[in-house]
Amino acid sequence: MPGGSAYMRAFPQGLERDVAETWTPDSWKKREAKHLPLYEDAAELARTEAVLANFPPLVFAGEARELKTQLADVAAGHGFLLQGGDCAESFAEFHANNIRDTFRVLLQMAVVLTFASKRPVVKVGRMAGQFAKPRSAATETQGDVTLPSYLGDIVNGIEFDAEARVNDPQRMIRAYSQSAATLNLLRAFANGGYANLRQVHKWTLDFMGRSAWAEKFKDVADRIGEALDFMEACGIDPETVPQLKSTSFYTSHEALLLPYEQAMTRQDSLTGKWYDTSAHFLWIGDRTRFEGSAHVEYLRGVGNPIGMKCGPSLEPDALLRLLDTLDPGREPGRITLISRFGHDKVEAGLPKLVRAVKAEGHPVVWSCDPMHGNVIKSDSGYKTRPFDRILGEVRGFFAVHRAEGTHAGGIHVEMTGQDVTECTGGAVAITDAGLADRYHTHCDPRLNAAQSLELAFLLAEMLNLEAGERHKHAA
Ligand code: PEP
Ligand code: CO
Repeated sequence: MPGGSAYMRAFPQGLERDVAETWTPDSWKKREAKHLPLYEDAAELARTEAVLANFPPLVFAGEARELKTQLADVAAGHGFLLQGGDCAESFAEFHANNIRDTFRVLLQMAVVLTFASKRPVVKVGRMAGQFAKPRSAATETQGDVTLPSYLGDIVNGIEFDAEARVNDPQRMIRAYSQSAATLNLLRAFANGGYANLRQVHKWTLDFMGRSAWAEKFKDVADRIGEALDFMEACGIDPETVPQLKSTSFYTSHEALLLPYEQAMTRQDSLTGKWYDTSAHFLWIGDRTRFEGSAHVEYLRGVGNPIGMKCGPSLEPDALLRLLDTLDPGREPGRITLISRFGHDKVEAGLPKLVRAVKAEGHPVVWSCDPMHGNVIKSDSGYKTRPFDRILGEVRGFFAVHRAEGTHAGGIHVEMTGQDVTECTGGAVAITDAGLADRYHTHCDPRLNAAQSLELAFLLAEMLNLEAGERHKHAA
């Protein structure tokens, strides 16, 4: 690593001290903030923030640290991160069944990925707080009416009328309540028996019974079934080993709406460190990760594991400087870099970032978001993502990491447990014309339940290859 070590020694200690001396939960206010809503009534905003600041934390610092430890294992190549859920949660779609179905599909995906990778899969939902959205245009025009854009239910309403599009601080309170109830249900599902491994596999078999690609996935599904049978014969089943009945599940969202995140920031009584208690894991979006950004400033000071989206405009030097700001101590598990280049750009754009990060010795998790670089406008007028392009980006991501000798550590998807028609393709081959049938998303198009599981099986092939190579090297 020529030049690397001097650089490594020179900066981090100084920057670590800098966090303690210069960061406060509101120090982001002195930086450039993009994609933050303007609230007309400043007093109303301040009152709402004060109310939120008195509410109980949604997650505990100890849980965030536990997730960081698990992500440290992933960074070291000993695991895989599965992160998924809505593009934008909404007040209208808040229902126990929706939460249950998304959770179930994530569990099913996790079982397939665990089996294929022979490594633990860390499960993180884009759930219980994923409300605020950055938008490419500040306004939306329909006919001859122009209104402010919809910014997510935590900020304003999706209905195209002037009243709904007013930014309302009170929505933060409702988003908090919905997040609390969602998290409560997720905790019950994760620990109350719903995550029983046998049961999860049975759901997958039911799905296979209906899938046009069943033949393709039969081998993996059969082998998982055999593994469970073998374990049971040895006396290892959910009745005797309680771990098989429960699972750990974490929450995450884009830390976009900083007044909300700041109000949820608490000092951990055990360590004295600050944590963002609105979710276990927070990430910075591709549009707000520039140097000097308010969002970077806020997240550098909290102890949670954090993510950063890396799109085509990010240069290696800027990435390294951002890493020094966000993780001066180079703490394993602290940073997950989520690349989102697009199916046709990933193989050209990702290697230079991977090389730079590797050369500087940053212990990051590399995860692939194959959604946000692959949005197209369909002929029928809908925003969609062709399944083939999503898969293409995942393949490219794995190919880059194989070539660079780094670990393809995770996947980040927008998906739902519902049978929506938002992304084209997949085994039932949703067509352009079919998009109108059940297009329900509040923002970007999501994979439906079947497409999500199909993606997991296709990913399994790539993970299998990786596991096979590991095995060869170990032998
Ligand atoms: C998102 O994950 O919803 C998002 C807006 O992604 P990105 O910041 O990568 O565009
Ligand atoms: Co999105």
